[in-house]
Amino acid sequence: MKAIMGGRADELIDLARTNLWQLVMEAAGMEDSVWVPALDESQLHEDTIHVVFPKGVSIILIKRDGRVYAIRNRCAHMSCTLAGGRLDGYTLQCPCHDWKYDITSGEFLEAREITVPTYRCKSEAGKVLVELEEP
Ligand code: FES
Repeated sequence: MKAIMGGRADELIDLARTNLWQLVMEAAGMEDSVWVPALDESQLHEDTIHVVFPKGVSIILIKRDGRVYAIRNRCAHMSCTLAGGRLDGYTLQCPCHDWKYDITSGEFLEAREITVPTYRCKSEAGKVLVELEEP
């Protein structure tokens, strides 16, 4: 098989090794990410938009029904900041042209294949931490 495919076989084997390694690291909870403190828990109020900048990334934190959601502070349409938008339940409406996003998934409600990045959050020692990928 390798003789037939030549260099392409080596590329495929390397790709398979890389993917397998990533799966093993993810299963072990060791993917290339880092938890970054973003805000004191005491400053996080229900149904309020909080803009934070962990590692310089502009992110909105929203606490709703006791759970914290983190969504990138940049609209997928023309990059307006979403922080000036209107929050209605789990929906965040962009202030520029009214695109609406589900804060739980980052999905644009009228075309769910269009998304704004979301981030996992956790609380630790009185801080809200956001999971960011390592550069
Ligand atoms: S920039 Fe957000 S809807 Fe246009």
